[in-house]
Amino acid sequence: MSATQHSPTNANPRRILITSALPYANGQIHLGHMLEAIQTDIWTRFQRARGHEVYYVCADDAHGTPIMLHAEKRGITPEQLIAEVKEAHQADYQGFGISHDHFSSTHSDKNRELVEQIYLKLDENQHIARRSIEQFYDTEKGMFLPDRFIKGTCPKCKAEDQYGDSCEKCGSTYNPTDLIDPRSVLSGSTPEMRHSEHFFFKLGDFTDLLKPWIGSEALQEEVRNKLGEWFEDGLRDWDISRDAPYFGFPIPGQPDKFFYVWLDAPVGYMAAFKELCEAKGLDFDQWWQADANTELYHFIGKDIIYFHALFWPAMLHGSGWRMPNAVFAHGFVTVNGAKMSKSRGTFIQASTYLEHLQPDYLRYYFAAKLGNGLSDIDLSMDDFMQRVNSDLIGKLVNIASRTASFVNKRFDSTLASALPDAELYQRFVDASAGIAKDFEERKYSQAIRQIMALADEANRYVDDNKPWLMIKEEGREQEVHGVCTQALNLFRVLMTWLSPVIPFTAAKAGDFLQVSLNDWNAIQAPLLGHQITKFKALMTRIESKTLDTLIEASKPAEAAAEAKQSDAAEISSDNENEGESSLDLAPEIKIDDFTKIDMRVARIVTAEQVEGAEKLLRLVLDLGGEQRQVFAGIKKSYDPSQLEGRLTIMLANLKPRKMRFGLSEGMVLAAGGNAGGPYLLSPDSGAQPGMRIS
Ligand code: MSP
Ligand code: ZN
Repeated sequence: MSATQHSPTNANPRRILITSALPYANGQIHLGHMLEAIQTDIWTRFQRARGHEVYYVCADDAHGTPIMLHAEKRGITPEQLIAEVKEAHQADYQGFGISHDHFSSTHSDKNRELVEQIYLKLDENQHIARRSIEQFYDTEKGMFLPDRFIKGTCPKCKAEDQYGDSCEKCGSTYNPTDLIDPRSVLSGSTPEMRHSEHFFFKLGDFTDLLKPWIGSEALQEEVRNKLGEWFEDGLRDWDISRDAPYFGFPIPGQPDKFFYVWLDAPVGYMAAFKELCEAKGLDFDQWWQADANTELYHFIGKDIIYFHALFWPAMLHGSGWRMPNAVFAHGFVTVNGAKMSKSRGTFIQASTYLEHLQPDYLRYYFAAKLGNGLSDIDLSMDDFMQRVNSDLIGKLVNIASRTASFVNKRFDSTLASALPDAELYQRFVDASAGIAKDFEERKYSQAIRQIMALADEANRYVDDNKPWLMIKEEGREQEVHGVCTQALNLFRVLMTWLSPVIPFTAAKAGDFLQVSLNDWNAIQAPLLGHQITKFKALMTRIESKTLDTLIEASKPAEAAAEAKQSDAAEISSDNENEGESSLDLAPEIKIDDFTKIDMRVARIVTAEQVEGAEKLLRLVLDLGGEQRQVFAGIKKSYDPSQLEGRLTIMLANLKPRKMRFGLSEGMVLAAGGNAGGPYLLSPDSGAQPGMRIS
C-alpha cells in the first residue's frame, strides 16, 4: 500500500525469530489453533511496529501414523492429503491476518536434511541408544500399533473400550500390554506382541543442561513448577523411531525405520526459517549457531510443553545448535465455559467463522482475555458480542465516526494546525511505554484495559466539547476544527497501539488518516495541517443472530456433509481426541464390493461365557445344515441363556480368525456406539437359517 505503509525504524533493532506450533496436516484449523496464531501474530506485529528485525515462521506438521491412515482411508497418497490440507490451512491463516513470513511443511527436503544432520550428530555424540522393545502388532493390517490404536478393557476399573495409554473413565494411565482383551482399532483383531529394535534419545545425558534451564526465565513460572515435578521423576530415554509402514523420514542406514513425527516436527521450525533465509538472502547460521546473538521464541499450547521445554532444547544443544530464548505456553480455548464440542456446535473451524464474522472481532476478544500464563481462554458468545460491540464500535470507532464528518465537510478534509489540548495528547503518548511493556510481556489483556480506559477519556473529551452543538453557534468554527483534530489525533494513537491486534481495521483507519499506523514511534508527533480522506464505516456491530448461525453451521449435520467431501478424519491427531465425532461414513463402495459380502440368517444354537474374556460370548450358529463357532463381543448386553434359539444375521464368508480362546468363524451383526449397545440384529419372522441377505 501507498503512503500509509512504511517500515518503522529503530536505532538498536533486536533480531527476533518467532514460531507458532506446527498444526497437524490432518484436520482443519479451528479456533483453538487460532488462539495461538493470534497470540503469536500480535507479538510479531508489535515487535515489527517497534522497528525490530522480526521473522515469523510456521509450517504444517505433516508426518505420522494418523496422517498415513487418513490418506489411506480417503484413497489418496499422504502427499496429496498434506498438499490439500496445507492450502486450506494457509487460507485460514491468511483470512485471520496471521502474518507469517513463511509457512512451510515438515515434509520438505530442507527438513529432511536438517533432521538427518541433527540425528547423525546426536549419534556421533553418543546420545542415541538402540534396544529391542516389545509392542503390539496388528497381523491383519501388517503394522505395529501406536497406543491410541489399541483399545480394550481398563485394567484398573474394568471400563470397556478404553485406549491403550489411559482410561477415560478412571483416568489411570498404563501400558497397552496391561489392557484386558486388547484389540486393534484398525482391524478389530487381537494384536500380538512382537519385538522390534528402536532408537532412543538419551535425555538423561542432558540433566546438567536442563536443570538450570528449567529454573530460568526462559520458562513461565507455572511451566517451571510443572517441569520440576517431571524432573524429579528422572529424565527417561525418548523413543524416536517407528517401524514401517510410516509416513515420515527414513532413518539413514536403517532399513524400515523412520523418525518419529515428534523428532522431525520441531526441526521444521529451523527448516522453514532456512527456506526463508534462502529466499531473502539471510544468514541462517547467525540465527541458529550455538553462540547466536539473535533471539528465538516458540509459542505453544500447554499440552506440548514436554516436547518444547525438554526434548527440543536438549536435541538442539546435543547437536551443536543454539537453544531458544524462551518458550511461551498458553492455555486452551473453551467455548461458553466448556470444551469445544461438535454436537453443541462449539467446535468452530476457522473457515466457518470467517464465513460469518470479521477476523478482527476474534483477534480483539482473544487479546482482551489473554495474559501471559497458562489459563484457559473462554470464548463466551454473549460476552464476545457485548465486548466487541461496546469496546470497538461503541468506544474506539465512535471517536472517529462522530468527529470525522466535520473535518471532511467543513475543513476540506484537512486537520487543524494546532491541538487545543496538547497536554491531553502528551498524556496519551506518555502511556505508550507502559502499554509497550505489557505487549512485550504478553499481558495483552492489561494493555487492552489501558487502551480502552484512554478511549473512554477521548470520548469524554468529545462529550465535553460537543462539536455538534458548537458548529451551530456563530463564530466557533475554528474551535470545532480544533476539537475534531484533537479527537482524531487521540484516535490515531489508540489505533496505532491496537494495530497489532486489529490489523484489518487499522489498515482502513490508516487509509482514512493517510498515515501508517504500524509505527509505534510515529505517534510522538501529532498530525497537524494534515490531509485525510473521507471517513467510511470501519466496522459493523456483531448481531446475535449471526452468532446463532455460526453455532448452527458448526453442528454435526453440516460437519458430516463437509467431512464426506474433504476430511473425514475419524482417526484424529494425537492432541485432538475430542471424543465426539459427527456421522462419519466409510468411503463409498460399489455394488460389487457389497456382493463380496455374504451375510446369512443364523440360529443361535448355544451361547456361553468365555473364561477370561471380558466382553466375549462363545456362540454356536446354525446356518441351515452347517454350524459355526463365533466369538462375539456382546456380553455386556446379553445373558447367554436368553440368546439360545433366536435368529440373527451373520457375516458368513469372513476369513476365520484364531483368537486366544479358539477359532472364530464369522461375525454376528450388531448395532451400537457411544449411545449404547451392542444390539444384535434379527430378521423378521419367516426368515430361515441359511437365507442370504441381499
Ligand atoms: N503438531 C503438533 C505440534 C508440533 S510443534 C513442533 C501439534 N499440533 S496440533 O495441531 O495438535 O496443535 C497445534 C497447536 O495448537 C498446539 O500448540 C496446541 O496446543 C494448540 N491447540 C490445539 N487445540 C487447542 C485449543 N483448543 N486451544 C488452544 N490451543 C490449542 O500439537
Ligand atoms: Zn479405568
